[in-house]
Amino acid sequence: MKNNRNTKNGKKSPIRGKRERYAEKGSPKRSGARDPKKPSAIKAQHAEARRNRRERRPAENKSVSENSQYIQWFPGHMTRTKRKIQADLKLVDAVAEIIDARVPVSSRNPDLPSMIGSKPRVILMNKCDLANPKATKQWAEYFRKQGVKAIELDCKTGAGIGSFTSAVRDVLADKIAVWESKGMVNRSLRVMIVGIPNVGKSTFINRISKTSKAKTEDRPGVTRGNQWFTLSSGGVNIDLLDTPGVLWPRFDDQLVGERLAFTGAVKDDVTDTEQLALRLLEYLRENPTNAFAERFSLEQCEINEMQAHELLAAIAKKRGMLISGGEPDTERAAVMLLDEFRGAKLGRITLELPE
Ligand code: G4P
Repeated sequence: MKNNRNTKNGKKSPIRGKRERYAEKGSPKRSGARDPKKPSAIKAQHAEARRNRRERRPAENKSVSENSQYIQWFPGHMTRTKRKIQADLKLVDAVAEIIDARVPVSSRNPDLPSMIGSKPRVILMNKCDLANPKATKQWAEYFRKQGVKAIELDCKTGAGIGSFTSAVRDVLADKIAVWESKGMVNRSLRVMIVGIPNVGKSTFINRISKTSKAKTEDRPGVTRGNQWFTLSSGGVNIDLLDTPGVLWPRFDDQLVGERLAFTGAVKDDVTDTEQLALRLLEYLRENPTNAFAERFSLEQCEINEMQAHELLAAIAKKRGMLISGGEPDTERAAVMLLDEFRGAKLGRITLELPE
């Protein structure tokens, strides 16, 4: 049998295909895109960075920006997902894009608007319970000015979920009027749910299914492989099409990867947690919250005076996180700090504001 490097059990490997395309077009490094390294290589790189950082510490005047890291997250099935979204658009009347209210820019795929064209769209700003309420209002206003309907959601408690149906009705008002003029009353509104990983798509679907009369269907034939949820809420019938694949964010901007790592959307195993925590501390020094200072019994002037690595060490000591010899366990403190940030224990923080 011919040994075809492109096949595994007779199936074409999308990853290898992508690498080969890079080889044809020029390496991603040269073109400024990511280097698709293996996780083991990334971990080794992080361990090396950690060692270097420890050695550098005695030099007090080091630049804090050295804590930046390039988050490597290979966007596996993006092309396939784009094709699937475009193919499935003809099955729906509108698109509901779920974003994380703490990072309304970084948690969106910037290609989505061009992918969906003129299809009516609703933005669901989820995880509002973790975001700064004032910033969320600013974002809602920003989207409104852009002519985009946006609603505020907290899928954990269900707050705001009730406005989903009316938001969909609003963006489809013209279409509904046409249907009604043709005698099609109470026609189901078909909506595709999209969003990058971890924004809360499954939680939203589970939540709305609980609050409305819902049933799950696999519709064979025309929509083979697609998962539909049929809801009935306030006399409106909605067919939700679950996201047809993984929609990745883009990492052209270093800050996008970093902010998604702060929120936990990029998994910790592809980042250097301690380095990430140092960057978060740099952010918190520049954007202080009372909750942060109070939680670690720190005065604002102390926070201002300390470098990020000194702050992390101070936090470790305050929490009694020590290693043998009484040294602060900064790795444990880093994990704890990120956890507390993700749970909004350092305050409800929105990392991106509208211009
Ligand atoms: P996805 O399908 O888009 O990938 O996201 P998913 O629903 O799996 O949600 C990702 C995480 O975000 C889950 O936490 C989920 O509970 C949480 N989440 C979703 N919506 C909200 C929200 O409005 N507010 C808050 N605070 N959290 C939300 P997890 O820790 O991964 O899982 P779990 O242990 O909470 O289930």
